[in-house]
Amino acid sequence: MDLRLNNISHAYEELQVLKNIDLDIRQSEIVCIVGPSGCGKSTLLRLIGGLEQPQVGEVQQIGEPPPGSLNPLTYIFQDFALLPWRTVKGNVSLALEDHDLGSKERGRVIDDVLRRTGLAEFGDALPRQLSGGMKQRVAIARALSVRPAVMLMDEPLSALDSQTRELLMGDLIDLWMNEGFTACYVTHNLAEAVRLGHRIVVLSRRPGTCR
Ligand SMILES: Nc1ncnc2c1ncn2[C@@H]1O[C@H](COP(=O)(O)OP(=O)(O)O)[C@@H](O)[C@H]1O
Ligand SMILES: [Mg+2]
Repeated sequence: MDLRLNNISHAYEELQVLKNIDLDIRQSEIVCIVGPSGCGKSTLLRLIGGLEQPQVGEVQQIGEPPPGSLNPLTYIFQDFALLPWRTVKGNVSLALEDHDLGSKERGRVIDDVLRRTGLAEFGDALPRQLSGGMKQRVAIARALSVRPAVMLMDEPLSALDSQTRELLMGDLIDLWMNEGFTACYVTHNLAEAVRLGHRIVVLSRRPGTCR
């Protein structure tokens, strides 16, 4: 499944945040969106994910999500968004609980994504027992568990120290080499975008427009 953004503009009352954004995100491609703080990157991801409707323009989903996809679009956030009282397995399970999977199938999906993200031995750990990089791997595992067509990643490495950021970038590249996932990856860090992105879209200062 591809995503096509057609001439998107968005404002919050008087504040024009995005203007005339055209963008295609094609299957198995990592598109990085780079821009200064406040230029509208997170807003753009929310519009892509359907959490908000753009005032002008539209986001089209072209083609079918992967077979067995439970959610075509999933988010990964800077702050990991893990529930501290749930184990790693319990946090991954969160994404699956709204879906009609038997407990056996759910267990199988969880084991599978934990293995793919190198967390197989940590299923019963609590978030506080994990490093920041591992917490973000849990969030990535949770996102993968629904077989998304596109992962929407909002500064996923920004809360991590530089060494951990490097390691996790390597993990993401390995994962992409194995699985060829599709992502729209937002960051204010140009070096990260250059390393990860197949394409880089630079947003200007507000109102953000594509260059
Ligand atoms: N729900 C909202 N209501 C009003 N203003 C908002 C809302 N969300 C974001 N903004 C404003 O829109 C601008 C862009 O925000 P955001 O998309 O979060 O930028 P970025 O992620 O690039 O830092 C900022 O000035 C922010 O204060
Ligand atoms: Mg943001």
